Amino acid sequence: MPGLSGPSDYSQEPSRHPCLHINAKEPFNAEPPRSALVSSYVTPVELFFKRNHGPIPLVDDIERYCVDISGLIETPKKLYFRDIRMLPKYNVTATLQCAGNRRTAMSITRKVKGVGWDVSAIGNAVWGGAKLADILELIGVPKLTSCTQSGGKHIEFVSVDKCEEENGGPYKASIPLSQATNPEADVLLAYEMNGEPLNRDHGYPLRVIVPGVIGARSVKWLDSINIIAEECQGFFMQKDYKMFPPSVDWGNINWNTRKPQMDFPVQSVICSLEDMQSTKPGKVRSLCIHGFIKVRISGYAVSGGGRGIERVDVSIDGGKTWMEATRFQKTGIPYIADGISNDKWAWVLFELTVDIPQSTEIIAKAVDSAANVQPEKVQDIWNLRGILNTSWHRVHARIGHSNM
Ligand code: MTE
Repeated sequence: MPGLSGPSDYSQEPSRHPCLHINAKEPFNAEPPRSALVSSYVTPVELFFKRNHGPIPLVDDIERYCVDISGLIETPKKLYFRDIRMLPKYNVTATLQCAGNRRTAMSITRKVKGVGWDVSAIGNAVWGGAKLADILELIGVPKLTSCTQSGGKHIEFVSVDKCEEENGGPYKASIPLSQATNPEADVLLAYEMNGEPLNRDHGYPLRVIVPGVIGARSVKWLDSINIIAEECQGFFMQKDYKMFPPSVDWGNINWNTRKPQMDFPVQSVICSLEDMQSTKPGKVRSLCIHGFIKVRISGYAVSGGGRGIERVDVSIDGGKTWMEATRFQKTGIPYIADGISNDKWAWVLFELTVDIPQSTEIIAKAVDSAANVQPEKVQDIWNLRGILNTSWHRVHARIGHSNM
């Protein structure tokens, strides 16, 4: 593609924030410390997780950069960056979560394959760009279409990065046409993140944002769009990011038996404490009475498909009893699950201040607006690729034996 190209090595990678924990160097995969996620509702770009499958593409000439739109439509079209920027601009606050978030913890019971992640393969950003529904209308596909006259039912996004899993070919993914042409689904071709032009790591000059869906479908460095009859046949749709039952292993897997994962299930994570946190009385702003210490427990909760968070329950006695945490998004606006003033596609942060005993297990679990609740045990949702670990999030806290 003129204007944008995918290098075949890692000699031209962008610089990154030193705080990031690097899970894989090449391709670059990194996440921020847990505490960074609850420091602000909108995650700063430099602390936003980075999930790549190849070297980061380069723009050599933004004037020549364009997106080719073709396939099962009457009139294929090339859209230049300036054409896309001329369309009405929308700012959508949406949480992007990698399906592999919390994968490392899934491996504890039984080994899974894939880059390991702690709990921070997730971030919340304000994405600015054109709605895909407007772009498709421009090329003759009306809003709320589920099939074009020539039989197109899916929209495939193709990038330029060179991915090993695609034998050096580009990353690609698709979503149903009905979602792409629904303005309410807020699918964007985004050129901004938190009010700034996208940076290279996050897809400069243009990426797809599919709110409420696993991050794998939000293709970065967009090169072309194809309107196709069947869903994309690429590796990341057909041989990865599928949820298999715990009985399926590498010896008996049949990839065709499962659909590509789209929406993500309800999730919540405690971010104010590390897994084995030793808290020294006095080191935190707290009151230590009779061996109990006052701590503020905070984290994030999110559900896919635009479902709100109805409740976040916290237990400080290993799950025997539960207390409800406070949920919030924007300051001054009370959060009500599925309320009209919410950011529908964004996480909620939660907090609860409680007295905890000297040594205890703290657990969080969330309930979404469809009453879906996180599963208790990771074993019940174990899958060989280690995706969607949404089991109750547990941290072990100990007072007075600080090694921090
Ligand atoms: N798009 C391209 N072209 N190449 C990729 O490797 N990774 C996907 C998605 N889009 C990827 C991509 C995955 S798995 C995720 S979780 C998100 O991008 C991560 O987006 P981020 O790096 O901006 O956080």
